Amino acid sequence: MFMLSMILFWIIISPSNVKFRVTDASLTQFNLTNNNLYYNFKVNITVRNPNNNIIVYYRRITAIAWYKDNEFGWMSLTTFDQGHKNTTFLHAVFEGHSVLKLKAKQLGEYKEETSVGVYEDLAVDLDLRIRTKYGRFKSGRFNPPVVQCGSLRVPLISSGKIAPPFSVKKCSTGSFFVDRDAESG
Ligand SMILES: *[C@@H]1O[C@H](CO)[C@@H](O)[C@H](O)[C@H]1NC(C)=O
Ligand SMILES: *[C@@H]1O[C@H](CO)[C@@H](O)[C@H](O)[C@H]1NC(C)=O
Ligand SMILES: *[C@@H]1O[C@H](CO)[C@@H](O)[C@H](O)[C@H]1NC(C)=O
Repeated sequence: MFMLSMILFWIIISPSNVKFRVTDASLTQFNLTNNNLYYNFKVNITVRNPNNNIIVYYRRITAIAWYKDNEFGWMSLTTFDQGHKNTTFLHAVFEGHSVLKLKAKQLGEYKEETSVGVYEDLAVDLDLRIRTKYGRFKSGRFNPPVVQCGSLRVPLISSGKIAPPFSVKKCSTGSFFVDRDAESG
């Protein structure tokens, strides 16, 4: 009964998905030696709540970095509250090293990209836990579908080289206001 009223509630309000965009990305280190990746990967993301009647409370934001479908880093971002029609800027810095075992084909691509100075197929996922407020109604905490910002082409910024401009990429969100755990259950 409660679930049904929740579902009806969201159908009636029909909120628009929160919009995520990668506005800039850069690498200052991306060195793969003996299956060890040393990385420094920075990403700027804008988050826009397009709804004029819903406040979003971000309670957990985990950013996960991928290279050619291999996860190599993650970090927690500072949580925030987002009012109506508001845009928030996020800045994620992935720095460190991790074990990365590429397939032979991917390793070939890595070497080629290294010679060009631009890496392909980087991606950032945002794993979120949120609450929402509509008028006086405040929802419980839930996890929206994972936000996926894929197919990023990211230049390696090394001294003496000018990085090509980054083209803004939209991220995919699925149905942002639907609990991904309830959906799959
Ligand atoms: C991200 O935004 C900050 C602050 O506006 C800026 O200094 C930086 O150059 C931007 N780009 C990256 C990749 O961090
Ligand atoms: C990558 O790391 C290896 C081992 O630490 C080092 O020999 C090599 O010079 C590094 N390459 C770059 C481009 O930094
Ligand atoms: C939108 O965000 C700005 C900056 O954080 C804040 O000053 C403003 O009050 C917010 N507006 C709403 C409607 O929440």
